[in-house]
Amino acid sequence: MKVRDKKIIEKINLLRKEIEEHNRKYYVENNPVISDFEYDMLMQDLISLERDYPDLAVRNSPTNRVGSDLATSGKSQFEQAEHRYPMLSLGNTYDKAEILSFNERIAKLLNERVEYVCELKIDGSAISLTYSGGELVRAVTRGDGSRGDDITRNVLEIPSIPPKLTGRDYPDFFEIRGEIFMPWDSFNKLNQLRLSSEEELFANPRNAAAGSLKLLDPSEVSNRGLKSILYHLIADGLPAKTHYELLSAASHWGLPVSEHTRLCKSPDEVFAFLDYWDEKRKELPYPTDGVVIKVNDLDQQRRLGFTAKTPRWATAYKFKAEKALTRIVSLDYQVGRTGAVTPVANLIPVLLSGTTVKRASLHNYDQIRLLDLHINDYVYVEKGGEIIPKIVGIDPSRRSQDPVKISFPEFCPDCGSRLVKKEEEARHYCPNTKGCPTQIKAALLHFTGRKAMDILAGEATIEQLFQKGFVRKPSDLYKLTKENLLDLEGWKERSARRFLQSLEKSKSTSFSKVLFALGIRYIGETTAKNLAMHFTNIDNLISASAEELLDVEEVGEILVNSVKEYFADPDNILLIRELESFGILMAEEKRFSSDSNGTLPLAELTFVVSGVFSVSREQIKSKIESYGGKVTSAVSSKTDFLITGDSPGENKVKQAGKFNVKIISEQELEAMISVSPD
Ligand code: IVH
Repeated sequence: MKVRDKKIIEKINLLRKEIEEHNRKYYVENNPVISDFEYDMLMQDLISLERDYPDLAVRNSPTNRVGSDLATSGKSQFEQAEHRYPMLSLGNTYDKAEILSFNERIAKLLNERVEYVCELKIDGSAISLTYSGGELVRAVTRGDGSRGDDITRNVLEIPSIPPKLTGRDYPDFFEIRGEIFMPWDSFNKLNQLRLSSEEELFANPRNAAAGSLKLLDPSEVSNRGLKSILYHLIADGLPAKTHYELLSAASHWGLPVSEHTRLCKSPDEVFAFLDYWDEKRKELPYPTDGVVIKVNDLDQQRRLGFTAKTPRWATAYKFKAEKALTRIVSLDYQVGRTGAVTPVANLIPVLLSGTTVKRASLHNYDQIRLLDLHINDYVYVEKGGEIIPKIVGIDPSRRSQDPVKISFPEFCPDCGSRLVKKEEEARHYCPNTKGCPTQIKAALLHFTGRKAMDILAGEATIEQLFQKGFVRKPSDLYKLTKENLLDLEGWKERSARRFLQSLEKSKSTSFSKVLFALGIRYIGETTAKNLAMHFTNIDNLISASAEELLDVEEVGEILVNSVKEYFADPDNILLIRELESFGILMAEEKRFSSDSNGTLPLAELTFVVSGVFSVSREQIKSKIESYGGKVTSAVSSKTDFLITGDSPGENKVKQAGKFNVKIISEQELEAMISVSPD
């Protein structure tokens, strides 16, 4: 083999692997890490390489397959259903010249007049609906194109999708495909809500829609503000000769179709549509990423047919990610909980993809240098896979007379400590973990957070307590008196009482949450749970050797070092002892631990919890977990018990019957765990 070939093979393999990985992040995890444009460019590279070296093309290359939204590991929570006709993807381009070639190719193949239908390409999640006798009987995701997840129950919660059709002239049995999407305002609201409850934010409305469709509780789906637009009718014996007429018929049956669809008699009319919407789409209440151009005549469509992955009668012209041009007014340097310093640009506010953007992140100093960025520069901001828009370029032609050079600060903007930068890390850090106000406040906020000690103290309260000098470390919170609180501006009897109650309640927070609350670097919720379960109390953890730590699930070397470093600091040990003296749990509760053999009473049992109980569902779940049981959200053949309170989910009870799962009450659960303490 020639050396050059070897290099090409390597490149192709690498591209395939990279694309597969991005497919998984996009379709399965709903959490893309690169922009659509970057993804499309990778795919284009692979397509051209495979075209240039046809002997290296393979059938299962990502260029020939539709990205799959099916979970690859573990069992899907949904039943899967076979598509009657494969659910394909579309060819796409960012280049108008290729739309002309598309038209020429079609004209040559058909050798007759062609009309096109132009539709907006909605940026949501593809769905296939089946109507039988005028009723919605099945809704399936695209999946891998051949089979998808049956999410009928969730789709029935979407108001714009009719469970029953109107009119009479619809085919008795047909499939209609389209997009389920989340309008900008619902997306912004949802993320705001998630921000306040400290949940991970969705990167964009497409991921939010796809994630919402896979929720296990249909009633939650109804709160997500999802909508639908349908665009592809399939049936034996269709009631029309053109795509345009089919859309109009679907609309008469009560199905949601787009109001922005246009019949175009020439390529010029197609281009006019593209130009109009490239600009006008910014005013639409929902996200779009291009225009789909389809041959209108159904018989022509049939003659053109399909390739393995896409129809030959349709293609997509994609808009470049929306970019906005604005000016940098100033730069802030934000210090995070762990001391990392991130430059954030303050911008002249500008509208971008449905939101007004005032700030954009710059990641680190290297990026500032690479862009040769100056204050007052005109910059392009873009939303990629991440939440905070990023600065992707500058417009040098608009540089002002007096550009202000940016030099990265040498000292922490907050406490003045000299910043450090490790060779292998891109970021600068403030090393003053214990004295830097920003880091102290961030650590306190983490401690009081919902997923940690759940104390009623948000950013504003922490700021007040810090300013007054009442609180410097988490244990100080437990020393607060009512008088201290009434001393804070705006605080009344009632707010002080509620705060102290939440403080009192936090003392019974489980050991794993306490461990998470301490904020040891790299210990997230799951690792905290694993560590708590494994070592059962803080002293075992403090004295654990590196080998013992490595025995714990998901613990690696970085974490071992972080744990060791944390406990080597006498101040941290002091903090733990103080917390302990206030009654905070530093061990899994005694009675949780097992019979005389050391096994937990619910070990190896899987539970599903449904209904209303004497305590919150969350409490029931954590009780099961602390006794060694596992809690999942859907009843399957692997479930051992369904615990029901008042008004349990109908479907769960039905599934329990189907899989022969034992249904028990809250009292019966209590009986299972009331093993006599040793
Ligand atoms: S037609 C065989 N029309 O974009 C027909 N797709 O990138 C293929 N999409 O898989 C689909 N708006 O999920 C079509 N008006 C529209 C669309 C549209 C959004 C999605 C769809 C498709 C993907 C391709």
